[in-house]
Amino acid sequence: MTGPSEGRNGTTQTQDWQADRYQVNAGFVAVLGTPVLELLNPQPGGRVLDLGCGDGVLTEKLVAAGCSVVGVDAGPDMIAAARAKGLDAHVVDGHALSFDGEFDAVFSNAALHWMQRPQEVIAGVHRALKPGGRFVAEFGGHGNVAAIRTAMIAVLGQRGIDGAEFDPWYFPTPGEYSGLLEAAGFTVHSVELIPRPTPLPTDVGGWLDTFADSFFAAVPPTDRAEVKGQVMDLLRPVLCDSEGQWTADYVRLRFSASRSA
Ligand code: BEZ
Repeated sequence: MTGPSEGRNGTTQTQDWQADRYQVNAGFVAVLGTPVLELLNPQPGGRVLDLGCGDGVLTEKLVAAGCSVVGVDAGPDMIAAARAKGLDAHVVDGHALSFDGEFDAVFSNAALHWMQRPQEVIAGVHRALKPGGRFVAEFGGHGNVAAIRTAMIAVLGQRGIDGAEFDPWYFPTPGEYSGLLEAAGFTVHSVELIPRPTPLPTDVGGWLDTFADSFFAAVPPTDRAEVKGQVMDLLRPVLCDSEGQWTADYVRLRFSASRSA
C-alpha cells in the first residue's frame, strides 16, 4: 500500500489509506491472500519482510507460523493499525527499501501494483534478501480491474481530464515482471496470471472510496459525488448482478522467485 508517491511519469498519485475504511471495504484482501501465503510456505525461525503489510492481517499469520517478521507500508494509518496488533511495522516507501542482506524471504500481497517504479522496488528487495532468499508475491496483473479503470478514465475524459495521468496502478504481464526480476538477479520459479472475479462487501462505490483517491483528486471536491455516480452507472451493467451483488474484475499476478546466489 502506498501514500502519496511519484508515479511513472513524474505525476503525483495520492492515496489516503484509512484503516477503518479499508477494513469495511477491503477486508477480503487478506482473506483471499491464502494462496500466496501457501506459496511462501513460511518456516518457523525464518526472517521475513512483509512489503506493503497494510494493517498487518497477513503479517500476523506469518508471525503465527513462527517467523520473525518486519512489516513495511507507506500508509501511516495502516502502520498504526499493524502496530496496534503488536507487530514490528514501519512507515517505508517500497521504492526506497534500505535493508541489507537480512531476510530469508520477502513477501507481498496486494501491494506491488501501487509501486509504479518496479525496478527500484525489485532492486531494494534483492538487496534486502540473503543470497538464495525468496521473493514471493501476489498483486494486480495485466487486465486487473479493467472495467473499473476504463469507466473512471472515460468519466474523467468527458470532463476534459486525462485520467491516465492520475492512474495510480501498475498491472504488468507475467513476461514483463519476470523480465524485470531476472534482470535484477532473480531466478523465477513460477509466475501466473489468475483471473479472480471478487465479490465486494459493499457496492463499487465503497471500493472507489477506498482505492480510487488518485482519480478523484483530478476533479474539484464539489464534483466528486457526481463523478462517482457516473462511474457506478457505467459499471452497473457489467459488475452488478440481478441480485445487487457487485463483483470486481480482479486479475492476480502471483510469482515465486529467489535471489541468485
Ligand atoms: C488489487 O488488489 O488488485 C487492487 C486493489 C485496489 C486497487 C487496485 C487494485
